[in-house]
Amino acid sequence: MAQKVTKAVLPIAGLGTRFLPATKSMPKEMMTLVDRPLIQYAMDEAREAGITDFILITARGKGSLVDYFDRAPELEASLEEKGKTELLKQLAHTDMPSGAISTIRQQQALGLGHAVWCARRLIGDEPFAVILPDDVIAGDTACLKQMVDAHEQTGGCMVAAMEVDASETSKYGILDVEPGDGAAVRVKAMVEKPDSHEAPSNLAVIGRYILTPEVLKILDSQDTGKGGEIQLTDAIAQQIGSEKGVWGYKFDGQRFDCGSKPGFLQATVAYGLRRPDLRDDLAAYIKTLGPQELG
Ligand code: UTP
Repeated sequence: MAQKVTKAVLPIAGLGTRFLPATKSMPKEMMTLVDRPLIQYAMDEAREAGITDFILITARGKGSLVDYFDRAPELEASLEEKGKTELLKQLAHTDMPSGAISTIRQQQALGLGHAVWCARRLIGDEPFAVILPDDVIAGDTACLKQMVDAHEQTGGCMVAAMEVDASETSKYGILDVEPGDGAAVRVKAMVEKPDSHEAPSNLAVIGRYILTPEVLKILDSQDTGKGGEIQLTDAIAQQIGSEKGVWGYKFDGQRFDCGSKPGFLQATVAYGLRRPDLRDDLAAYIKTLGPQELG
């Protein structure tokens, strides 16, 4: 059985240019789906997966993300005075035990591989998870929990995988896998953002990973790949021939790409409809939409 995964790296140092001008002065990960920022969905998923140590890879201008998980004594006192116990309960959900969150600055946005490598001193010699908060995954069991459970059996590296349209392969890392019936499939090759005619399949890697410390050693070389960035996919691909190898995990759940405007809008509607207190109003509004709005 593989060593238990208790640490997660959350890279949040990207520039978020697809959401400019909003992200000029606000981190992308603080954008809210209904009433919770993207970062909280990621932290909740990690907690459900049994993660106890959270490493945020931050950058200049991302301070509000760290404040979000701190206590807010004046706000709490004011809510208490007014007897707003329900709101206090919701605030308590953002409390993290002292010492559970560490932050590391990525001084330059050199790529996702570089961002993860920045956490190397806090990881040590154990497997760890990586969560990209702009991928939000709705489902009965947290995606990372499904992966952590499967990883206990497989060991090695594991990436979350989902089928995408052939026209979309150039947006993702794409897997070539061995045939298999289960949710975990052994990876034979990984290609970063191939055009559809070069893609070995339509099985795409999305923002959940379980990695071995060996990947951090590979990232020591600081090799750049596609787009001149230090690519995480390239480093994971080098583990394919290793004893425990690399696994793709076909998770159960619906993934929203909240780093893109269409994905974020879809997630807003989907999560609004999942909320008992908002569902009726939102559904009633959607039903009023006709050809004039929908075209
Ligand atoms: P994205 O490719 O979505 O980049 O990064 P981005 O900068 O956040 O957004 P756009 O494309 O400019 O709109 C995927 C994840 O990797 C992190 C991002 O914060 C995001 O969570 N990342 C990316 C880093 O932490 N550092 C980097 O150098 C690059």
